[in-house]
Amino acid sequence: MLVNMKDILVKAREGHYGVIAPTIRSADEIKHAIEAAEHKNSPVILNFNITYDFVAEDADLELVMLVARERAMRSSVPVALNVDHGKDFATCMRGIHYGFGSVMIDASARPYEENVAITKQVVEAAHAIGISVEAELGCVGMGDPNFKIDGKYSHTTETNPNDVADFIEKTGVDCLAVSIGNAHGPYAKDIIPHINFELLDKIAEITPIPLVLHGGSGTGDENMAKACTRGICKINVSTDIAKSGSELAVEKLNENPKKGRLDFHTNFHQGYREKIEYYMDVFGSTNKA
Ligand code: 13P
Repeated sequence: MLVNMKDILVKAREGHYGVIAPTIRSADEIKHAIEAAEHKNSPVILNFNITYDFVAEDADLELVMLVARERAMRSSVPVALNVDHGKDFATCMRGIHYGFGSVMIDASARPYEENVAITKQVVEAAHAIGISVEAELGCVGMGDPNFKIDGKYSHTTETNPNDVADFIEKTGVDCLAVSIGNAHGPYAKDIIPHINFELLDKIAEITPIPLVLHGGSGTGDENMAKACTRGICKINVSTDIAKSGSELAVEKLNENPKKGRLDFHTNFHQGYREKIEYYMDVFGSTNKA
């Protein structure tokens, strides 16, 4: 069933488990992510980054959202459709126009007051029509320090716990992405990051709203399982599921080039899906649909 992201996350916070938000890059991935959730009897949040890496053209977005909404409605488990990293008000409104039930406004790299003002503007518009909103406080950068976004090096700033209550009160946001040692993409030299659980506990004590962990890939199963019992309710995963899909497809190609070529997409999707199912177990959402 197609549901509001807030409904999935409020239950997850109460139940002390996390829900995976896999990055979706094609209509095929919609099918496989939802089938993974049905197989595990788990809720799932499909993340679409319409700012940077997915279907920039409106015609494509309209088509993909027709598939996503239709498949989600037919699903036996709760499915939410979320705009990931909406970079501004216009991007979030574009997402809502095409049928997303929740949006992330990411103004986390801007000064605090600007982040508050933009988030508040998105929340007011989105809540007027029942759309839930995620925002980010502190800034989750890239695991690779040489990575650039919009020509600038990404930077990381830990969430300041002193800002949390003020930010939530002023913006009315439904869930909050935090920066507690996590980073997007692969970590340098594949090091498992140090997650600041003391900071997570402080934030979780300040607010009952669901917390979000971006950059799930490479963060370590133990870290993520622990975070899910301490306030983290949504974990974004992109790199690891794409890696799992491509590794399986290449392995099969090397084993048998002729068959591997014909089955390339099937094998990619199998690896992609297996990793999603694996993380549903790690995050504790299996059988929580
Ligand atoms: P990873 O690629 O590190 O899993 O990050 C995904 C993400 O946070 C998308 O918002």
